[in-house]
Amino acid sequence: MIAGCTTSDGGATTGSGDAKETGGDATTGTVGAATTGTSGAPEGTGMAAVDFEKDLKPALTTYCTPCHAGTEPKKGIDVTKLTAADKDKFGKIASEIEGGKMPPKDAKQPSEDEKKKVVDGLKALAG
Ligand code: HEC
Repeated sequence: MIAGCTTSDGGATTGSGDAKETGGDATTGTVGAATTGTSGAPEGTGMAAVDFEKDLKPALTTYCTPCHAGTEPKKGIDVTKLTAADKDKFGKIASEIEGGKMPPKDAKQPSEDEKKKVVDGLKALAG
């Protein structure tokens, strides 16, 4: 992921002079150059900024909805209703996951990679 970022950036600059100013143009203009990069960082900026909806919510939805969604979510936390604006809850959620308390041991567990990504992402967003 991290290495992929620099590779795909390099590819974009070969496309056109505009690419360095408006990175977004590279995808519409020169498809060939953009696809030579690693698939990890399609937007170039994806690495620095965590996108809650794209990067974190899918994992939370997968592992937490059995108990944290529906009409009576545990502790009133409905992960399907969380948005990037719920920063005040992210620190708590990150520490529950990091400490191995959530998801509970008898529930479906995320891989170490997934766990790290979600915990790091939540912490980054929580500030
Ligand atoms: C098998 C059911 C289950 C799953 C799956 C589950 N939780 Fe929970 N969660 C609970 C229960 C029950 C509580 C309340 C009791 C407790 O604090 O242990 C809780 C409490 C919490 C709390 C509040 C703790 C507190 O002290 O206020 C957070 C935050 C939380 N869960 C986050 C998550 C996240 C994030 C996931 C997914 C990665 C998740 N949970 C998956 C059952 C679950």
